[in-house]
Amino acid sequence: LWLLGVVGLVAYMIGSIPFGVVVARVMGLGDLRAIGSGNIGATNVMRTGNKAAGVLTFVLDAGKGAIAALVAWALLGEDAAQAAALAAFLGHLYPVYLGFRGGKGVATFIGTALALAWPVALGVCAIWALVFKLGRISSLAALVASAFSPMLALVFGYQSMAALFGVLTAMIFYKHIENIRRLLTGTEARFDKKR
Ligand code: G3P
Repeated sequence: LWLLGVVGLVAYMIGSIPFGVVVARVMGLGDLRAIGSGNIGATNVMRTGNKAAGVLTFVLDAGKGAIAALVAWALLGEDAAQAAALAAFLGHLYPVYLGFRGGKGVATFIGTALALAWPVALGVCAIWALVFKLGRISSLAALVASAFSPMLALVFGYQSMAALFGVLTAMIFYKHIENIRRLLTGTEARFDKKR
């Protein structure tokens, strides 16, 4: 059990690394928390206009969730992998390095899903892409796509993961309260149409 505790703590510390803030600073894009929505995620890095930085942030924030889950799985099995996924996700939402003011968890959620149940992750990404194509709103795409994740887990035969995806999705919604308010009032930020 102590090993599970160590794995959970390490997963939380890894999940706490705010790659968006790091990438924006290292690439000279300024303080991410003073840009756009002020969020530390890949979506907000995209708003700097530097696509590569946005993609890199997504990959790193997803990657930290995936690594935490995969290492825990290799060491201690599936239950530990789920615990590590939750811990890394909580790290992103409440990072120790930023006074516990973190992100909204979408990329880290997708990374952990990729490690735990890759067909669910692919399904979530497909729904995200479809909703984003229709509305050009990152938050809306994330909310709709994540909401499907427990059902996708059941459909694809990952019964034991459905509850975890439900919990992660509930926390994503909780962290998007401001976005949901803006969506309801029609004031949520859109990305320009590709031309
Ligand atoms: O992944 C975060 C996204 O859903 C919302 O980000 O910056 O538009 O609040 P933002």
